[in-house]
Amino acid sequence: MADGNFEMVNATVFEEHHPNNYLRRLADSDIGRHYKSIALEQLDIQPGQTVVDLGCGPGADLGSFAAATGPTGRVIGIDSDAAALTEAQSETLIGARIELRRGDIHTLDIPDDTTDRAHTDRVLQQVAEPTRVLEEIRRILRPDGIAVLAEPDWDTLVIDHPDLEIARAYKRFVTDIAVRNSHIGRQLPRLAVGCGFRIEDVLPITTVFRDVAAADKVLGLKRVSDRAVDAGYLTREAADQWLTHLATEPFFAAATLFIITATRWP
Ligand SMILES: C[S@@+](CC[C@H](N)C(=O)[O-])C[C@H]1O[C@@H](n2cnc3c(N)ncnc32)[C@H](O)[C@@H]1O
Repeated sequence: MADGNFEMVNATVFEEHHPNNYLRRLADSDIGRHYKSIALEQLDIQPGQTVVDLGCGPGADLGSFAAATGPTGRVIGIDSDAAALTEAQSETLIGARIELRRGDIHTLDIPDDTTDRAHTDRVLQQVAEPTRVLEEIRRILRPDGIAVLAEPDWDTLVIDHPDLEIARAYKRFVTDIAVRNSHIGRQLPRLAVGCGFRIEDVLPITTVFRDVAAADKVLGLKRVSDRAVDAGYLTREAADQWLTHLATEPFFAAATLFIITATRWP
């Protein structure tokens, strides 16, 4: 494909910059609504309960948690990102029942045995020490508390391309570099048991993408490919070949996120 055509295809299919509303847009998409509704069901929130959303981001889940806890309940959203919390403040109906806190979830300013439900959604994949966060969740949960942890495993990412080596190199960049704890999905049941939880359920949520633009909105295909080139995982030529094929040929990709439901044990 001539350079001009390549640029044109790129520009129309792939987002160049990470959009500010990335998290909110994903939460509002069919994909986000689907798996978040399953996580909510697994939480089994009862009226009057205290729910802590660790790494709440722009607060996509806080409204549904507050609705489930009702007027006598309490929802605490914690995140280290001030901008995300500002967004949560403006977009969520913050009443007395939703409290936003800026902080590092490795050290929770919440007393022992006081939380009924704890939730993460694509957060443990980012933190420096997932087991430290799990220990904190275990500490704050009441004896009959429930933790629901929705975390992907990026080794499940499959993207169809005739040159398997290019596809593998792209995924290696994602799992080696782009995501800090890229295998957290498969590791979580073991890590959680080690931190004093019993695993009640593990639900796989596999998202299949057959539309390249829809996949790009979640996966950032061009941005990640460009970073893979910079990091030496792909040559520029291979990345251009990869992106052109993804943009112009029938598209298929899939990735799995696991929703782990855990209780305190013993
Ligand atoms: C992928 S976002 C998910 C946000 C939200 N859970 C959602 O579903 O939209 C991950 C969030 O975890 C937060 N985060 C990562 N490490 C953190 C830490 N150590 N302490 C607090 N928040 C953290 C980030 O700031 C980010 O908002």
